[in-house]
Amino acid sequence: MTMPMRDFALETYMSEWEFTARHHMTASDAETIRLPELLAYASDADRADFENLSLGYTETFGAPALRQEIAGTYETIGPDEVMCFAGAEEAVYVAMKVLLSAQDHAIVITPNYQAAETIPLSICAVTGVALDIDNGWNLDVGQIEAAIRPNTRLISINFPNNPTGRIIPRGDLEAIVALCRKQGIWLFSDEVYRLIERDPEMRLPQVADVYERGLSLNVMSKAYGLPGLRIGWLACRNRDMLVRFERYKHFLSICNSGPSEVLARIALKNREPILARNRGIVRANIAAFDAFFAEFPHLFDWREPDGGCVAFIRYKGADGVEAFARRVVREAGVLFLPSSVYRSDLNPVPADCLRVGFGRRAVPDGIAALRNWLTRNVP
Ligand SMILES: Cc1ncc(COP(=O)(O)O)c(C=O)c1O
Repeated sequence: MTMPMRDFALETYMSEWEFTARHHMTASDAETIRLPELLAYASDADRADFENLSLGYTETFGAPALRQEIAGTYETIGPDEVMCFAGAEEAVYVAMKVLLSAQDHAIVITPNYQAAETIPLSICAVTGVALDIDNGWNLDVGQIEAAIRPNTRLISINFPNNPTGRIIPRGDLEAIVALCRKQGIWLFSDEVYRLIERDPEMRLPQVADVYERGLSLNVMSKAYGLPGLRIGWLACRNRDMLVRFERYKHFLSICNSGPSEVLARIALKNREPILARNRGIVRANIAAFDAFFAEFPHLFDWREPDGGCVAFIRYKGADGVEAFARRVVREAGVLFLPSSVYRSDLNPVPADCLRVGFGRRAVPDGIAALRNWLTRNVP
């Protein structure tokens, strides 16, 4: 059964509060940097490229020099196996529209970044496989296997996961690849939070490197903290599929923004210091949350997530998470996302969770505001 695309609940909630709440405590991106800071990383030649840039259209696939840099972030991928998009979001849309038709079946995990289910659901039958909150948001690969049908064309995964922060063990990813390979199923892997892991040992391979029908989604927005560039990409060893994506992109953004392409290239060339900075901010914020949540164990079930910039934790207050999230943003200016934002059309999602973000530098200020408010308002 298909469904018309419903409003993107998270983006709708964010559009009300993201730019008005004083303390954005649920951001999914790492702290961004200003243009002069980014340009300070650039070589003289790259800075001159930016300053002398001609503002014409660029190649639909993405500027070759940018795709070269992106390819360098994979083990086996060449520049012709990368296609750029306006953020990760356009790539999700294009890939689902091109890969799926009405007679197909897709499998996605829940909870999810809503585009992952709403777009396929508008095209074909979709089965959701739920991460298990009572088991550290574990994914049961057996449930994926059980959901596969003869017409399953696509499995869509996202680790580190938004909103749970879960990373599956490498063996589970290998098992999913083996299931896909048996039937030629495309594996769409949203890897936008990769490179921010609690322990680098938990870092998963990128599926485009390990599976011939793997589609690796990534973007400058999250681990690199540069969402305003709107540069995302898909890496895939199947060039014919990328060409089909290109034909679809001709109807959407046509090409990326030229200035963003140069800036993304500069950031990727200097990714080690940028990532080290962002990981440092995440580590410090997690330590601050550890200390804060330890003061309120009767209210929150905090557990450090495996990776990414967000966690989805239980709120145990008697008022319920929906009332709490709305009250705390109005009265204390502290923005979190409540469970309802992650409602799924496929599976029940626990109704008592808060999405907490820890990629931004100002998190300690938000913690102070929240502590102050809780102390005055919650017995
Ligand atoms: C899992 C996931 N995929 C894709 C996106 C879209 O990324 P972008 O804003 O760069 O288009 C997001 C943004 O929050 C996300 O969390």
